[in-house]
Amino acid sequence: MHLAKRIISVAPSATLAVSNLAKQMKAKGEDVIDLSIGQPDFTTPAFIADAAKAAINSGAASFYTAATGIPALKAAIAGHVERQTGVHYTTKQIAVTTGAKLALYGLFQVLLDPGEEVLIPLPGWVSYVEQVRLAGGVPRPVPSHAHFKVTVDDLEAQRTAKTRALVINSPANPTGTIYTKQELTLIGNWALQHDILVVADDIYRDLLFNGAAYTSMIEIDPEITKNTVLISGVSKSYAMTGWRIGFAAGPEKLISAMATLLGHATGNPTTAAQYAAIAAFDSDGRSVEQMRLAFEDRLNTLYPLVTKVPGFDLPDKPQGAFYLFPNVKRAAQLTNYNSVDDFVSALLAETGVAIVPGRAFGMPDHARLSYATAKPDLIEAVARINAFVGAN
Ligand SMILES: Cc1ncc(COP(=O)(O)O)c(C=O)c1O
Repeated sequence: MHLAKRIISVAPSATLAVSNLAKQMKAKGEDVIDLSIGQPDFTTPAFIADAAKAAINSGAASFYTAATGIPALKAAIAGHVERQTGVHYTTKQIAVTTGAKLALYGLFQVLLDPGEEVLIPLPGWVSYVEQVRLAGGVPRPVPSHAHFKVTVDDLEAQRTAKTRALVINSPANPTGTIYTKQELTLIGNWALQHDILVVADDIYRDLLFNGAAYTSMIEIDPEITKNTVLISGVSKSYAMTGWRIGFAAGPEKLISAMATLLGHATGNPTTAAQYAAIAAFDSDGRSVEQMRLAFEDRLNTLYPLVTKVPGFDLPDKPQGAFYLFPNVKRAAQLTNYNSVDDFVSALLAETGVAIVPGRAFGMPDHARLSYATAKPDLIEAVARINAFVGAN
């Protein structure tokens, strides 16, 4: 079977690969603790699901909508973003998509001509690189130095005449790192100066822990806002990964190009899910806060345990999202594995604990543990990792 070159060069999602393997092992009855997947373990709050049910019962959910979503949802998103950041987007500046994943995918499709480059700080979420490739662009990884963050100097070292965009994901997957207002100001001004669009992936912005301060790239300065596309969605904040609702908000010209693309690609995000998302964005935030508190408690439990595992190094406590990204190279060496990839595979095979090798995020000496899992399972997972490292 002939396949297009464009797909042959793309790596399948490593996080999905590990979680699929973990699911297969579970289906065979094996005792698996899956710390690989980036999704809340909570079910969607009932008032949100009820809004979808009402749309189904009334018949409203039976029909196509505008390609970029129903006006009421765009208004709910605009209201929500304005309450959080003070920044006002018109409905023409918002495209609702089938998950934030499609917002990013569509954005790169309409932004990049062949060979144009996107700066992607490392470590970074697995899909940025492949999405840029799928759009015919060239991903330019930008290694971070201290605290998993890139500076203007790091970015400048990778800038070329073909650089079109830069991704800033704060709080970050896989590290939980947050960029400060000062750091974002420097980066935002540098991007503006070089006409590089900033893609601000704020999908984890509601999951901030232990009093961490947060500023979004969009709220620093109106000129930087105009040069930024905000990407977010309901998946992580409202435990709605399965509903597939995300959005892009930014310059009208880009959003209108995305509307054309989406009109030919998805038609529209699932109508019932859009009604559910209105209820989520219009809500008072109590359910988000309940889940945030649970994640915070898990972080505060897990971080000290993980940093005590022999060969697991993680000097900075994460401030957001729901991941830990320790350097585990010493643990691989202690257990006589040649690489972290081999260590992670053996850990799953022998203890049933699934974590993701850092290679997927561009830092092969690290591994990602998600704490979007019940606390007793997290404690048991660390006990198994300790036994595995100690026994080998
Ligand atoms: C950094 C980041 N951006 C975007 C997404 C996509 O989220 P969704 O498509 O579920 O809205 C994810 C999901 O894992 C993510 O971690």
